[in-house]
Amino acid sequence: MISTTFTPAGVRAAVAAAIRAPSLHNSQPWRFRLSDGGIEVRIDPDRLPRVSDPNRWAARLSCGAAVFNLRLALAVAGTPAEVRLRPHPHDLDTVALLVPARPRPATPAEQDLYSAIFRRHSNRRPFWPNPVAADARWRLIEAARAEGAWLEMVIGAAAVQTVAEIARSANRVLERDCAYRAELTRWIRTSPAGDGIPVEAGGPVPEPQDLLPQRAFGVRTRAPGRDFEPEPLVAVLGVQGDSATDQITAGQALQRVLLTATDSRLAVSMLSQPIEVPRAREQLRLALGRYGTPQMVMRIGYGQPGGPSAPRRDVDETIDLA
Ligand SMILES: Cc1cc2nc3c(=O)[nH]c(=O)nc-3n(C[C@H](O)[C@H](O)[C@H](O)COP(=O)(O)O)c2cc1C
Repeated sequence: MISTTFTPAGVRAAVAAAIRAPSLHNSQPWRFRLSDGGIEVRIDPDRLPRVSDPNRWAARLSCGAAVFNLRLALAVAGTPAEVRLRPHPHDLDTVALLVPARPRPATPAEQDLYSAIFRRHSNRRPFWPNPVAADARWRLIEAARAEGAWLEMVIGAAAVQTVAEIARSANRVLERDCAYRAELTRWIRTSPAGDGIPVEAGGPVPEPQDLLPQRAFGVRTRAPGRDFEPEPLVAVLGVQGDSATDQITAGQALQRVLLTATDSRLAVSMLSQPIEVPRAREQLRLALGRYGTPQMVMRIGYGQPGGPSAPRRDVDETIDLA
């Protein structure tokens, strides 16, 4: 039934979709509050990986992605949301307020992306060597553009090498930091938990011949010859600037790109080391020759369907229905 307000049951269902958003180390740094008939999305300061995300860039991206999922879930339930980013400009932790807009039926595109929310997960395993089809690439570029972002496909072996070298050198910088390494280890899970990254969701243990520096969450060594695809499709998502609002916008665009990829039967893993190290991020920006700020690097391809996904905390742990 179509409603002109968000009901507690509707909010709960929408939050169940929101928390499927990606987050750095699966930290899930969000809280949702039913406030004056709207839904407020806030950064949860108790859940931040503080060494890896000192300026809350990753938390804003993650919360932006959660906002995109909320938008889809509310639209599919018949009452889409009007979204106000950073509704209290002096409060950096309130990411967005979603208020009910005029009821209307969901579009087929919204329904497709909504159903992809529950199938999407990061895939850190090697992909098939097949190149990603041109129409699928185009859909991803359009998905970023529809959310006010850009997606640059890194084309040609030399350009991919350049981006990979920037990412590897950023990874070396981060790995030299003991506090960073210790924090990463704290988010790896070897037994069931509601957050963090289970070792089964990690990729194979990194080896020197790897082009891209995948984060070492896994414990499985690979069989001889089972390397990563030789010519990965690397794409960089960016937005105009790097303000808090830009980062939330980037999060929404990231999620639209990821869900569009899932809907196109593509697998994706994310690499944020070149974004986390300021010098690397600047090198990446210069290498792309684009106006704006890179916000995420992705490896995209055709992977084995299914595969392990990271858990989520219970909806009730994230929501204040006061
Ligand atoms: C801001 C941000 C940075 C991320 N950086 C990485 C990364 O460097 N390496 C990686 O393997 N995954 C990265 N991820 C993916 C998260 O680890 C992943 O979303 C989380 O574990 C939840 O798993 P899921 O994507 O399978 O739902 C990042 C995600 C976000 C939102």
